[in-house]
Amino acid sequence: MTSASSPYADATTVLPPVPSYSPADGVNTSALAEIEARGITAWFGQHKVLDRVSLTMPAGGITALIGPSGCGKSTFLRILNRMHELVPSAALAGEVLLDGVDIYDPQRKITDARRSIGMVFQKPNPFPAMSIRENVIAGLKLTGTRASRSAKEELVEQCLVRAGLWNEVKERLDAAGGGLSGGQQQRLCIARSLAIRPRVLLMDEPCSALDPTSTRVIEETMKELAKEVTIVIVTHNMQQAARVSDTCAFFLASHSTPGVIVEHGDTTAMFTHPQDQRTSDYVNGRFG
Ligand SMILES: Nc1ncnc2c1ncn2[C@@H]1O[C@H](COP(=O)(O)OP(=O)(O)O)[C@@H](O)[C@H]1O
Ligand SMILES: [Mg+2]
Repeated sequence: MTSASSPYADATTVLPPVPSYSPADGVNTSALAEIEARGITAWFGQHKVLDRVSLTMPAGGITALIGPSGCGKSTFLRILNRMHELVPSAALAGEVLLDGVDIYDPQRKITDARRSIGMVFQKPNPFPAMSIRENVIAGLKLTGTRASRSAKEELVEQCLVRAGLWNEVKERLDAAGGGLSGGQQQRLCIARSLAIRPRVLLMDEPCSALDPTSTRVIEETMKELAKEVTIVIVTHNMQQAARVSDTCAFFLASHSTPGVIVEHGDTTAMFTHPQDQRTSDYVNGRFG
């Protein structure tokens, strides 16, 4: 069931059992969380791919990371929930603060960071043979969370509602996740992430494998979710960044220099009055 590509791949062994669920726990009632990267430098072997990148991603907002291929957006995103260190050659300097607490503090468990900071990938990756219901609650088992049958049922419904999928699947929760359309599978993956109650949701080009209609459904879902979960999205699609994000960061790298943030700030301002010529060229489609 667990595979190397699973977002919970190594969550099984380390976590102690946590208190069991009551139905009300399904709702994320904790305060909205800010996530802040400070002076992030990243390497793969000798190759430095990010250089002293700092960015505050405000609580309860949607931050878009934009920039050409290869400039380090995915690497930056993986650093935000400690997935970068899964790559054997990877190294890192800097800090990531979730509400002021460093997720890389040696006292803290890697799984704590992964549990509070969820990830949705480019290609929808539900467990294909597992039922829709089992997909949603898969993360509970892997994080050692116990829940009664009725609490699980309630959680499944809540997460599917929040992911904008409930009405399409409520009559067939026992059907295989792999039988859904691409856009539905991606919303199932969002529901699965939500079930472990993350405070931040990272999304790496979540719509790039989807048709325009599914893309719009996911965008609407993101806007709803941002009321309770801080969202960071990597997107190649400038219109998407403009439609969904409140703040935006433009990453750029060249052959000889690692990725940096050229400009960041309010999305509307960046799209209408970019401060840097390179930002202007990129958001207006002159390169990338
Ligand atoms: N697992 C890896 N091993 C070695 N180099 C990598 C790995 N992943 C990414 N890179 C390199 O890091 C740089 C940034 O990649 P990435 O973060 O994927 O950029 P983006 O998401 O902006 O396209 C690229 O030069 C890429 O080749
Ligand atoms: Mg990428």
